Amino acid sequence: MQAEEPTVISSKPQSESITDMTEYVLPQHANALGGVFGGQIMAWIDLCAAICAQRHSGHMAVTAFVDDLKFEQPVKIGEVARLRARLLATFRTSMEIEVVVEGENLKTQRRWPCVRARLVFVAIDDDAKPTAVIPLALDSEETRISQAEGEARRRARLDRAETTRT
Ligand SMILES: CC(C)(COP(=O)(O)OP(=O)(O)OC[C@H]1O[C@@H](n2cnc3c(N)ncnc32)[C@H](O)[C@@H]1OP(=O)(O)O)[C@@H](O)C(=O)NCCC(=O)NCCS
Repeated sequence: MQAEEPTVISSKPQSESITDMTEYVLPQHANALGGVFGGQIMAWIDLCAAICAQRHSGHMAVTAFVDDLKFEQPVKIGEVARLRARLLATFRTSMEIEVVVEGENLKTQRRWPCVRARLVFVAIDDDAKPTAVIPLALDSEETRISQAEGEARRRARLDRAETTRT
């Protein structure tokens, strides 16, 4: 009997790595005003994006860069933070991921925007070296635009890093 050829995947759709997380805000997450600490939300964002990056790449992935964060409205004790991470673009070994955080009040059913963040993760192999990732499937106008915009932001980031080095 012939050995089966391993399946070679040339690209992967964005839908396969979308990651949702729901966090109930407890007193230990909150500041003296009763709202979630910014650092706690950042930790949840990092975790949600890391799962998305690892789901897409099939590798461990480390945070390389976090874009500016703007906290729009607080989420208070007894309310819920809803996070959704989606892959915006892939490069050689790195991936750009967006995480959108919303607040939710379970009594009133109201939802509101809390934070939007973009992060870059680098896939690493068993020797902790950057390793190539499967490209994002450019199977819709939305993903083609998101890949092109991600490439422009990547160039700007690398230029900035180069300028600060010199
Ligand atoms: C991220 C890291 C693996 C990159 O290692 P490196 O030796 O610079 O590797 P390379 O120069 O080969 O770059 C690898 C990729 O990282 C990207 N990268 C490196 N630094 C970056 C930065 N500051 N912002 C965005 N991307 C970055 C490169 O563009 C490259 O992407 P590409 O292959 O898609 O073009 C390394 O800097 C690291 O381990 N940093 C610490 C990560 C960490 O501890 N995170 C927190 C805990 S998870």
